[in-house]
Amino acid sequence: MWLPCGCTSKYVASSFARRTLASYLHVSGRSRCNVAAFMPEAAGLEGVSGRAALRELSVSNSESFWAAVARHRLCWSTPFHTVQDCDLSRGKIKWFEGGKLNVSVNCLDRHVHTCPERVALIWERDERGSEMKYTYGELLEMTCRLGNLLRRHGVKRGDCVTIYMPTCPLAVASMLACARIGAAHNVVFAGFSADALAERIRDGEMLLLIITVNQGVRGGKVTELKKTVDTAMQSCPTVKQVFVAMRTDNPVTMTARDIAMEEVREQKANQILEIQIQAVEDVVCEPAVMNSEDVLFLLYTSGSTGKPKGLVHTQAGYLLYAALTHRYVFSYHDGDVFGCVADIGWITGHSYVVYGPLANGATTVLFESTPIYPDPGRYWDMVERLKINQFYGAPTAIRLLLKYGDQWVNKYDRSTLKTLGSVGEPINTEAWEWYHRVVGDGRCPVVDTWWQTETGGICIAPRPSDPDAEIVPGMAMRPFFGINPVLMDTEGEVLTSNNTSGALCMAQPWPGMARTIHNNHQRFIDTYFQPYPGYFFTGDGAYRSEEGYYQITGRLDDVINVSGHRIGTAEIEDVVCPAVAESAVVGYTHSIKGQGVYAFVVLKKGIDVQEADLSRQLNGMVSEKIAKYASPDFIQFAKRLPKTRSGKIMRRVLRKVVESDLEGLGDLSTLDDPAAVQEIIQGHEKLL
Ligand code: PRX
Repeated sequence: MWLPCGCTSKYVASSFARRTLASYLHVSGRSRCNVAAFMPEAAGLEGVSGRAALRELSVSNSESFWAAVARHRLCWSTPFHTVQDCDLSRGKIKWFEGGKLNVSVNCLDRHVHTCPERVALIWERDERGSEMKYTYGELLEMTCRLGNLLRRHGVKRGDCVTIYMPTCPLAVASMLACARIGAAHNVVFAGFSADALAERIRDGEMLLLIITVNQGVRGGKVTELKKTVDTAMQSCPTVKQVFVAMRTDNPVTMTARDIAMEEVREQKANQILEIQIQAVEDVVCEPAVMNSEDVLFLLYTSGSTGKPKGLVHTQAGYLLYAALTHRYVFSYHDGDVFGCVADIGWITGHSYVVYGPLANGATTVLFESTPIYPDPGRYWDMVERLKINQFYGAPTAIRLLLKYGDQWVNKYDRSTLKTLGSVGEPINTEAWEWYHRVVGDGRCPVVDTWWQTETGGICIAPRPSDPDAEIVPGMAMRPFFGINPVLMDTEGEVLTSNNTSGALCMAQPWPGMARTIHNNHQRFIDTYFQPYPGYFFTGDGAYRSEEGYYQITGRLDDVINVSGHRIGTAEIEDVVCPAVAESAVVGYTHSIKGQGVYAFVVLKKGIDVQEADLSRQLNGMVSEKIAKYASPDFIQFAKRLPKTRSGKIMRRVLRKVVESDLEGLGDLSTLDDPAAVQEIIQGHEKLL
C-alpha cells in the first residue's frame, strides 16, 4: 500500500502555477495573445503566427519567457529571485538563483497528490510480453525507501552515487532517490567495461557508493554486471559500498563491501516477481530542499581528447528544459504513453525516459531489450501492446529494421502512434521516409531532434511549430524556444545569410545547458566557449537552408558517432598494446551504424605477428578498456602514417582514404613524404 511521503504542503503547486503564463509576461498585445497558445489549456487554439511569435519572444525577451515558464511548470518551495546570471565568455551559467525545490517532488509527489494510481513506468523487460507497470504511488514508495536506505548508509547531500544498471525501475528510483536526498548521480552505461567504469568512478573524488544489479539481461543474453563492478573496484579504493539488486535469480559472490538491496521479494497478482527494496525502510523520506544550481547529476561523455568528461547538470534549469522540450517537441498530452527506447546510461535516457516525462506526469516506457529480439517486430509489437503514443528512437535501429522488410511492422497495430522521434545521429532520407511511411503510416510527424549531453535537452527539432508546418526529411529544422543558433565561418564571424554552412554555436544561454565539467572548469571553457568567444560551440557543423532550416552536417572534431554512441577517436587510440608503435582512428560511413571505426596501426620495429591474430587481440582490448561498440570494424596495418613535416598525423587524408574519396584528398604539399599516402591507399584497397 502506498503511504504519503514527506511531501509537505509547501511543495503543493504554488499559486504561481495556477496563474496563467500570460500574466507573467509584460509584452505586446500580439505576443500576449500568442502566449496563451503555449498554455496547456489553450493548446491548439493558435496558428503558426502564434507559435512563431512566441518563439521570437523566447529569444528577444528570454528572461521573461523562462521566468514565466519556470514558475508555471515547476513546483518551488521558495521562489527564485534572479532568472539568470550568465556570461558565456567565462562559461558562467546560473539560472533561477534563490529558488529552492526538489526534483523528485517535481517528478513524483505532485502527481501522486492528484492521481496516485496513474502509471509512471512500464518496464518492457527483455522477455517479450512480461512488462510490469508501476504507478506514481509505487515509484514514490520505491524512491523513498531507497532514499532512506542511502541516507542510512551515510550518503549525504552533495555526495555522488554511481549507478551501473540496465534500464529498469530500480535504476529510475535510484536516480530519483539521489535527487530526493540531495546527492548527485553518475549513471554509467551498463555496456561500459570495468576499466571505463573505474575511470568514471575515480574522476570524482566524491563518489562513494555504487548501485548495480547481479546480472543484466538484453537480447536474451546475460551480462555479468556485478562481476564487472568487482573488477572495477580493484582500482577504486575510495568506494565504500556496493548495493546489489537481483535482476535474475542467479546468485553472485558478495564481499564485505556489498549490500543486498532486496530483502523481500513479493509475488504480484500476475505472478511476476516484483522488486521490493529493503522492506524495513520507511516509505516516508523527507525531500532535501535544494538550490536551483546544486548538482543534479554528472554524465560522462566523449570529447576529442582521450579522457571522457563528466558534464555537470543542475536541478531547476535542467528539469525545466527536459520537461518543456518533452511536452512540446513530441506534442505530449496528459495521458499519453511515451516510448523512448534509449538506455538510461545516456543523456537521452536521462532527459526523455526519466526526467522530462516524469516531470510532466507521463507514463514512460523503460525498454530493456533490443530492436531485433526475439525478432525484428519487437518495437512495433511493444507499440501495440503498450499503446505507445510517441516513439523516440535512433536512426541506427531504423536503418537496421528497414532491411528486414515492412512485414515486421505491418503485423502490428500502430494506430496509437502520434509522433515519431529520431535522435543521436543524422537520419538519412531513406530511413526517414521508411519511418514516416511504413512505421507512421504516413500520418505521424517525424521529429529529427538535434541535441547533446551538453545541451541537456533538444535544441533543434521540427516541432513545436504549427501542426501543418512543413517537415523536411533529414532536417532538424527549427530552434526550440529560447534557443538562438548561429553559424560561424572559419574566421569566427557570424554567417548572416541563408543557404550556408558553418560551425554551429549558440548565441544565448538556456536553462538546460551543462554548467561545467566535473573537476575541470577550465576544460569546459576551453572546449565550449573559447573557440568562439561569447558563444557556446557545439562541436557540430550545420547547414542553414534558404528557408532558414537547420541540418546537422556532422562533428567538426575528432569525435565519431557509432550507432548513436559518441566516442572520441583518441579514446580508442589510447588503448595501449605493446606491439603497436602508433595508431590513428577515423570514422567511416557505415550503412547501419551511421559511422564505423577504422583503425590504422603501425607496429613497433621487429614485431613479428600474424595480422589477423593481432587484430583480434586489439579488438578484444578495446572492448575490455572501453565498450564493444568502440571496437574497430577495420584494422589496417601500415608501415607509416601520412604526417606533416612537423610530425602531425594528417587525419584529413586518412578520412578521405577510408571514404574512398581520392579526388578529395586535397593539398598534400605539407606532407613529409607523399609516398606514405600511396601506401595507405594500397593497403586500404587490399583490406576491402
Ligand atoms: O554530433 C551530434 C550528434 O550527437 C552528438 C551528441 O552526442 P551525445 O552527447 O551522446 O548525445 C546524443 C543524444 C542527444 C551531437 O554533437 N547528434 C545528436 N542528434 C543528432 C546528431 N547529429 C545529427 N542529427 C541529430 N538529430
